[in-house]
Amino acid sequence: MKTVNTIGELKSYLNTQRDCGRSVGFVPTMGALHQGHTELMRTARQHNDVVVVSVFVNPTQFNNPNDLRNYPRTLDQDLLKCEQVGVDLVFVPTVQEMYPEADTRKFDFGHLDKVMEGKHRPGHFNGVAQVVSKLFDAVNPTRAYFGQKDFQQLAVVRELAKTLRLDVEIVGCPTVREEDGLAMSSRNMLLSPEQRKSAPLISKTLFEARNKKELFSVKEMISWVIGQINSDPELNVEYFEIANANTLETINQWSEAGEAVGCIAVQVGDVRLIDNILF
Ligand code: PAJ
Repeated sequence: MKTVNTIGELKSYLNTQRDCGRSVGFVPTMGALHQGHTELMRTARQHNDVVVVSVFVNPTQFNNPNDLRNYPRTLDQDLLKCEQVGVDLVFVPTVQEMYPEADTRKFDFGHLDKVMEGKHRPGHFNGVAQVVSKLFDAVNPTRAYFGQKDFQQLAVVRELAKTLRLDVEIVGCPTVREEDGLAMSSRNMLLSPEQRKSAPLISKTLFEARNKKELFSVKEMISWVIGQINSDPELNVEYFEIANANTLETINQWSEAGEAVGCIAVQVGDVRLIDNILF
C-alpha cells in the first residue's frame, strides 16, 4: 500500500493506473477509521481495480472550532486498517496542500443544505462540497463511496456531482452499527463511559419509532422521539425532523412521501451525534 501527501504524487500514480484501463474506487474520510469506514472500503475493493482512501480532517466543514480541535486523529491505526482491507493508496494531504489559498466558492444546493444539518451547522455542507470537489478533481474516481449514516451529506454529494457534471458514480452504503445499535462514528470514542451507556437510546428509539409509524401522525412521532431521548439526562436532542427520503423536504403528513427519513442530531455532553431511520 502506498501513502502519499501531495496531489502531484496522487495524480501521477493514478494516471499510470488509468492508462492501464483500471477503474478507481474512492473512499473519502476524515480518519479515526472504524468499521463503518472499512465497510465502504470493502465494497470499493469488490467493485474496482484500484482503491484510494483519503484521510483529511477538513477544516472548512467545521462550524465549531472546539469540534475541529477535538476531532480524533489516529493515522497509524488508520493506515493499518486500510492495509488490512487491501487499499492500494492512502492520500493524507496537509491543510496547505488542499487549501494553498482560501476557498471562497459558495455552492447552492437549494433547500438540501437549508434543512436539518444544514440549518444547525451553517456552512457545513459548503465546506463538505469544497473538499469533496477538490478530492474528486485530484482522484477523478470511477466510483465514490459514502455512508447512509450521513444521509443528508450523501444527498448533497449526489447533487454536487450532478451540478459539476462529474463522471463519477456515487454509491451509498448502509449504516454500520455497534452491537447495541449505536451508529458507528469517529466521535463515539470521545464519549465518557456514562455517555456511551446512554447513547444507544438514540438508535433504540429510532427503531421503535419505525415500528410505531401507523400509530402516530408525523407531528406526534416527532414529539414522541424527542421525549424518549431527552428522558435520559445525558442526551439532549438538537433536532429530529422527518423528510421525504428522496428530496429531503420536510413533511407534515406521512402521505406526502413514499419513503420518509427521520434525521436526528443529539448533543451528548460536548459530543454531537447524528443518526437516521427510514420509515
Ligand atoms: P467521515 O465522518 O470520516 O466519514 C467518511 C465516510 O464514512 C462518509 O461517507 C460517512 O457517511 C461514512 N460513515 C461514517 N460512519 C459510518 C457508519 N457508521 N456506517 C456507514 N458509513 C459511515 O463524512 C466525512 O468523513 C466527511 O464529511 C468527508 C465526506 C470525508 C468530507 O470531508
